[in-house]
Amino acid sequence: MRVLVIGSGAREHALVWKLAQSQRVSHIYAAPGNPGMLPYAECLPLAARQFSALATFAEHSHIDLTIVGPEDPLVGGISDVFRERGLRIFGPGAAGAALEGSKAFAKELMTAAGIPTAQYRTFTDAHAALAYLEQHGAPIVVKADGNAAGKGAIVALDMGTARNAVGQIMTERVFGSAGDAIVIEDYLQGDEIGSTAICNGIHYLPLMLTQDHKRAFDGDQGLNTGGMGVFTPLPFVERATEMFIYRNIIAATLQALKAHNIPFYGVLYSNIMLTSKGPIVLEHNTRFGDPETQALMLLLREDVMNVLDFAETMPVKLDTLWQPGSAVSLSLVSGGYPGSYHTGLPITGVAEANKVEGVQVFHAGTALRDGQLVTAGGRVLSVAAHGTTLREAVDRAYEAAARIDFEGIHYRRDIAKRGLG
Ligand code: AMP
Ligand code: GLY
Repeated sequence: MRVLVIGSGAREHALVWKLAQSQRVSHIYAAPGNPGMLPYAECLPLAARQFSALATFAEHSHIDLTIVGPEDPLVGGISDVFRERGLRIFGPGAAGAALEGSKAFAKELMTAAGIPTAQYRTFTDAHAALAYLEQHGAPIVVKADGNAAGKGAIVALDMGTARNAVGQIMTERVFGSAGDAIVIEDYLQGDEIGSTAICNGIHYLPLMLTQDHKRAFDGDQGLNTGGMGVFTPLPFVERATEMFIYRNIIAATLQALKAHNIPFYGVLYSNIMLTSKGPIVLEHNTRFGDPETQALMLLLREDVMNVLDFAETMPVKLDTLWQPGSAVSLSLVSGGYPGSYHTGLPITGVAEANKVEGVQVFHAGTALRDGQLVTAGGRVLSVAAHGTTLREAVDRAYEAAARIDFEGIHYRRDIAKRGLG
């Protein structure tokens, strides 16, 4: 098969790396891709938002399957454009991607279907939102309805923060049109985990549960980021909880989508809080997680093409889907991220880091300048490591990270702490 991967981050690098090992894949293109993919993919000078140029390329180059990494093109309807032209693409159409693109739609769908999610109200008027806040009290969570690059949710432990969040989103428009509407929901406490399922309409293949570390600094301090590191599997999640997630969250969400006449082919990646009252959905995403994918691809034993295609080519053997052991991914970020940061800084040590047993370094925000690898984003590299135990995977990731350097480099030192007990 000839495949095209859309996106440019470490998630897409991990997918490309795993696709390159597939018996079924003969040629890989990436658009726009990144320097880390060059050993196994041809990178195209096309941006993820150029839907019709990408579809034309897929037609002319006889691409058998296009795989979409980020949410923006999915929410914008790239899959609809491809399917209208008879092209196979992995990722939901705009109607399905609205599950991620509109928190109000997601909450409505879940509440109507009885899928566990926090109590909420939607507002398009700041005065009404503020009045509701006064009546409800803190702690409370204020979220921009649309996509705000993972920064649109404000967990307000006090009323001042809550009022300020409404003002920023609805009046000052710090997230632009993503703040046309807001969702205000009850504050939940517990362990936050990620569930990833490959979906084909009503059928799904659940992948290993993951735990991300969203805050920038150790001990969950600092601002929310796109994700500072992940580990999998999760030793603290019981089988019954996992089964509840499959049945009452994944299957139930797919059924609710089907009832709305929305076929869902792609990834359902949900952030779930394990509360004292059971698992509750914080949000649904309609694409692979980043940095979840880096850890998952490293642990996956099965041909990734068979996983993406599971409903058509299989049955996949669940007992041999994964390698034994654990995997982690660790984000190496620019100093200042998720705020402002410098780019163009030389990166050293990636080849040395890749020599650590069980380690794969994936590129997140890098560029080549006169043959020198330089920083080009907030999250710069993602160090993924596999080990026979979680301890070994974590140690390998940190040993590799210590070999890498660029000015201002930052990473958390406590990834997988919850799993190490
Ligand atoms: P979201 O963009 O909805 O995933 O929210 C970003 C982060 O805010 C989540 O990963 C949680 O850590 C936190 N969060 C979101 N909703 C809630 C909630 N209802 N209660 C507590 N924390 C939340
Ligand atoms: N790991 C967070 C995300 O992909 O949204």
